[in-house]
Amino acid sequence: MTKNFFITTPIYYPSGKPHMGHAYSSILTDIIARFKRLEGYEVFFLTGTDEHGLKIQKSAEKVNKNPIDFCNEVSEVFRNLSNQLNLSNSDFIRTTEDRHKKVVQQLWGILSKKDQIYLSKYSGWYSISDEAYYTEEEVFEEDGKKKSITSGSEVEWMEEESYFFKLSDFEKKLLSFYEKNPDFVQPESRKNEVVSFIKQGLKDLSVSRTTFNWGISVPGHKKHVIYVWLDALVNYVSASNYFNKDQQAPWPTDIHVIGKDILRFHAVYWPAFLMAADLPLPKKIFSHGWILSGDEKMSKSKGNILDPIELINEYGVDEIRYYLAKEVVFGLDGKINKDNIEICINDLANNIGNLTQRVFTLIEKYYDLKMPNTSDNYTKNSMTIIDSKNFVQYLRNLEIHNYIKEINKYSSKINKYVNDNEPWNRKLNSDTNIKNILNTSINSIKNIFILLHPIMPKKSEYFLNLLGLKSFSISNLKIDIPEEQKLSKPKILFKKY
Ligand code: MSP
Repeated sequence: MTKNFFITTPIYYPSGKPHMGHAYSSILTDIIARFKRLEGYEVFFLTGTDEHGLKIQKSAEKVNKNPIDFCNEVSEVFRNLSNQLNLSNSDFIRTTEDRHKKVVQQLWGILSKKDQIYLSKYSGWYSISDEAYYTEEEVFEEDGKKKSITSGSEVEWMEEESYFFKLSDFEKKLLSFYEKNPDFVQPESRKNEVVSFIKQGLKDLSVSRTTFNWGISVPGHKKHVIYVWLDALVNYVSASNYFNKDQQAPWPTDIHVIGKDILRFHAVYWPAFLMAADLPLPKKIFSHGWILSGDEKMSKSKGNILDPIELINEYGVDEIRYYLAKEVVFGLDGKINKDNIEICINDLANNIGNLTQRVFTLIEKYYDLKMPNTSDNYTKNSMTIIDSKNFVQYLRNLEIHNYIKEINKYSSKINKYVNDNEPWNRKLNSDTNIKNILNTSINSIKNIFILLHPIMPKKSEYFLNLLGLKSFSISNLKIDIPEEQKLSKPKILFKKY
């Protein structure tokens, strides 16, 4: 029976051009999704755009567009980015779609029926950029302007009639949930942040707005639009179609990959909403760090963004995916710059790239690009028999950078094997020996490209196809390329800078 796996990116605000921070969330999610497929799971991978709220309404007004036209345009840019990043997403959801609006209103209905929502008045410091209210203690003053302590974004005083969600009722339930599920939020440091936030006490949460209208209206009370975070979080349920027939993804999600800036929404509000509606909770939330430009978070409002499309055009999509996955330790912040990208690609070219070219040049020269047959007394070299557990464990723990380190170690080992055995040296080696060495080398390089598949799907598929492999999974690590099979020589795999 196939096992299902449901993984999501956050849905992106289409308020401006996507940058490397957005690309990072998506690439990491894609790597995990592809890895799970390699392990044999049926994966449902969801991404999309978060299109309601004041932030989007204001962005549209700035360019004199009505919000839906504006969203249609910018959402398309995000969809194109998904293609450029070679994401293997199963669906792309937009919160302006009817299928989503329907589910948000259904969930509101459930919460309302279960008496989890009430009408009252709200006043507080609102950040449009974060789409969140802050208390007096959570803001500070700078240059005559009030700002949020956590995000640094400007806030303004707002007063309005509002529906409230009884978040305060969930303080104990959430704490007990975290105690029973210590791995729910990873890395652990982030879990600790969440738990101490809950321990400080939870206030009821304002979940509707009356000061603007770009959103999903509260059923039966049109003056109110549903708080954009409640609206947005529900996208995961809408896409799964859990409430309705023809469910297209299993509920709950296995992993929500998110940036640390939106942890509170996913690790406190989201489980509370689901508990209140008696719905199953996601299994894991992985909170990654920030992509920094210099020492600051890369963000549109700071004007320090690197454009992923430009970088992909310059260096190639697989190279950028590899770079981000290797250099930014999953869970921590990472600085990125072009010099480091080039160093990283040169390492790839010198190690895996060079190894592959050398071995293929020899096979072409001596054996007319046929998979060399091994001698009768050949015993399979231990190098081709890798213990996939060593690698798999890293990815299961979401330690992607360590997974890549392990692949590079393996590649260095093969390089050393080739160097030590000098298959080009006919004085040192008999023809039989050379065949054995090259057979071992090719099967080991095959393993590298299978393991690299989640990180560099294009290069991996290109290379494995040249070996005659059309579909591959972790189990292919154990299967050798048939002897005498015709191979094709790869073009230079990685350009040097
Ligand atoms: N729309 C909300 C998410 C709703 S999910 C139900 C949102 N959108 S966002 O466009 O601002 O951010 C989307 C993702 O991009 C978040 O995971 C965020 O952490 C990530 N990044 C945005 N800038 C980033 C960096 N500079 N570095 C890494 N990721 C950051 O929040």
